[in-house]
Amino acid sequence: MPTLSLTTDGPLSGSVTVPGDKSISHRALMLGGLAVGETVVTGLLEGEDVLATAAAMRAMGVAVERRGGVWHIHGVGVGGLLQPQTALDMGNSGTSTRLLMGLLASHPLVATFTGDASLSRRPMARVTVPLETMGAQFTTSPGDRLPLTMTGACPAVPIRYVLPVASAQVKSAVLLAGLNTPGITSVVEAVPTRDHGERMLRGFGATLTSEDTPDGRVIAVTGEAELRPQVLTVPGDISSAAFVIVAATIVPGSAVTILGVGVNPTRDGLLRALTAMGADIVRSGEREVGGEPVADLTVRHAALTGIDVPSEWAASMIDEYPVLFVASSFANGRTTMRGIEELRVKESDRIAAMATGLRACGVAVEELPDGLIVEGSGGEAAAGGATVAAVLDHRIAMSFAVLGLHVRAAVTVDDAAPVATSFPNFSGVFEQLGARLNPSE
Ligand code: S3P
Repeated sequence: MPTLSLTTDGPLSGSVTVPGDKSISHRALMLGGLAVGETVVTGLLEGEDVLATAAAMRAMGVAVERRGGVWHIHGVGVGGLLQPQTALDMGNSGTSTRLLMGLLASHPLVATFTGDASLSRRPMARVTVPLETMGAQFTTSPGDRLPLTMTGACPAVPIRYVLPVASAQVKSAVLLAGLNTPGITSVVEAVPTRDHGERMLRGFGATLTSEDTPDGRVIAVTGEAELRPQVLTVPGDISSAAFVIVAATIVPGSAVTILGVGVNPTRDGLLRALTAMGADIVRSGEREVGGEPVADLTVRHAALTGIDVPSEWAASMIDEYPVLFVASSFANGRTTMRGIEELRVKESDRIAAMATGLRACGVAVEELPDGLIVEGSGGEAAAGGATVAAVLDHRIAMSFAVLGLHVRAAVTVDDAAPVATSFPNFSGVFEQLGARLNPSE
């Protein structure tokens, strides 16, 4: 299998863009598929996860075409999705799986969801429980896992669902199910999670309210909606920009600008955490793109100091912890990150996978049930010199590739393939900044 290894002889410098936001790309394909008429999307992430969503929408009667780098989605209207003739292969993508389960739960059809070894280990009860309350039925593999078959309910029953875990996927699944459900379907979240779905539902003309109450944020969607097609531009993914931001911060002398990054406040926790540690990150050109706040980010090398990262920030940076562990490896002192047990049910157990790989590269860490403590080097290069396992997880692979930019001996990631799920030109972006992609072993 092709491996991944980046090195650099000097500072990283230059201006780059990163691919479109993964969360927004999935939602654009889904809502475009339910609008009546043609939605046009520029900047869609063309990673494997999003392509799995596109293929599923096609399998249910939505014409999805790519012409000259622009995506055209011919929506069939809310309630208009057709019975898929074969199983929906979700690949590595939890977001495709959970959001589509919601979308289909209120359609009169039967759908089977399958996925790769990583996805087949991930818990699905968090979505089947509320969707069952709405009337959908599920036959799952042991432990509420994939492969599973869902029979949608039509009409479904509207619910008010209090999220037991801070999850935008669960929130979005219930709200998407609510689109083809008579009445008002609502979700209550104690901690705000990414609100791309809410913003986009409003943009497509759904009636959606979001209110902060003593119980948390209550988001309510009115069912039997009619969605109007949109012309959308997807901002750059802050979760992909995160690798560049951390790389520029840890490699001495670096100065890098990343253009057009989504800085939605429900997603910008990494910027807050790194800034609190002493990072030099400057936002400029703040603007709005496709209903989302966007900025150019200029990042210069800086000395970091270890902190206790507030667990209240976790939801706004949930996918960025692996690369924050890497940044913490170079801080002065200890960085403590807790309240992040959700990392154990991502594409891999990210706490365990990072702890193992960091130790192999000479970084001292202490693994906790709900987090990680990292002893920083005070800016000194890490030992490196190890081959680490990507464990079918794109963010683990990319985090260790970034660690490899400030080590005494090269780091090799055993499998480069997972990177294609969310950041297909990852190596190209780093080569543009002056890093070297070592030949695959
Ligand atoms: C996502 C939500 C998050 C995140 C995932 C994308 C989304 O998952 O980790 O990469 O697009 O809604 P959870 O909702 O499980 O936290």
